Amino acid sequence: MRLSIELMGEDVSSARQRVLDWYDCNARVLPWREGPGAALKADPYRVWMSEVMLQQTTVPHATPYFEKFTTLWPSVSALAAAPDERVMAEWAGLGYYSRARNLLKCARAVVSEHGGVFPADEGALLKLPGFGPYTAAAVIAFAFGKAANVVDGNIERVMSRLYAVKTPVPQARPLLRELAARWVREDRARDWPQALMDLSASVCRPKSPSCLICPLREDCAAFAEGQPEAYPLKAAKAPKPVRHGVAFLIMSEDGFVVERRPDKGLLGGMLGLPHLEWRSEVWSEGEIVFPSVHHGNEAWENLGTYAHVFTHFALKQQVWRVVLSTKDMTAFLRQHNAYQGLSWGEAKSLPTAFAKALRPK
Ligand code: ADE
Repeated sequence: MRLSIELMGEDVSSARQRVLDWYDCNARVLPWREGPGAALKADPYRVWMSEVMLQQTTVPHATPYFEKFTTLWPSVSALAAAPDERVMAEWAGLGYYSRARNLLKCARAVVSEHGGVFPADEGALLKLPGFGPYTAAAVIAFAFGKAANVVDGNIERVMSRLYAVKTPVPQARPLLRELAARWVREDRARDWPQALMDLSASVCRPKSPSCLICPLREDCAAFAEGQPEAYPLKAAKAPKPVRHGVAFLIMSEDGFVVERRPDKGLLGGMLGLPHLEWRSEVWSEGEIVFPSVHHGNEAWENLGTYAHVFTHFALKQQVWRVVLSTKDMTAFLRQHNAYQGLSWGEAKSLPTAFAKALRPK
């Protein structure tokens, strides 16, 4: 394995040029991106916002959120001045909510520590909340047009195939970074990682890559082996643990009851339905302690169970519903300070893990 990697290490310039030529004809035009076909000048605020949203999220899913956020808050200072609850509510549905909390923290740090201007320095960016090596490199390359080793999971896949890396991910990550670094140059520093991202999205896809039209085909060790799709090799994964919960849908014709989750922990700072502990055993009906509503326990109806997969576990949650009159709802909310009412029209500010309870299968 090392042998082919050493051999390929020498001169990448002609293969690199082929990728850039391919990119000049095939670049995606994306609303945060400066590049071939785009009228836009890169703006560090928009680049940063897009990169935070695109972590663990696809371009089609993130794009409407990007448009909404940059319309509501066109500059980093506008975002820094936004109320936390509003930002968390607009983030609902994107997942990984610590990203939204860090987004705000970072915007405020850019305003207070850098006068509202993102620093054009990788070291300074790395000190900002939510910035890791990937985001810092992406902002340096995409916003400032300077050479940086931008390596995401897609670029890792291209490198693992190009060099037929036999170490599985995640162990191979440092090696894949080192391989990617061999291709970084000041020349077309912005375009290079964008070209690799576009190549990985449309040609070097995870499944059924289109090797026959790939500008790197003749350099690709995995193609030569005949099994490009086998890369990157993956270490066997332990199955995710399952946890069981019970969520309470206390509703009236106007809306339903939610609680603000603690800032720390899963879905921190987001709204959620009141629920029982997420534990490894299924909750039996006899164990459930229902919130006390005017009608007593008979009024509760089991709507079924839905599943939601988090990073570290899969949740199976029963949904129990009670329907109150507007008057009883008002009385209930008055008695329970930890709860608040959310109108049906505001239901989109619930994270998906709870929004599913409104439409359980
Ligand atoms: N995924 C992460 N960052 C991206 C970008 N800037 N363009 C396209 N896909 C991406």
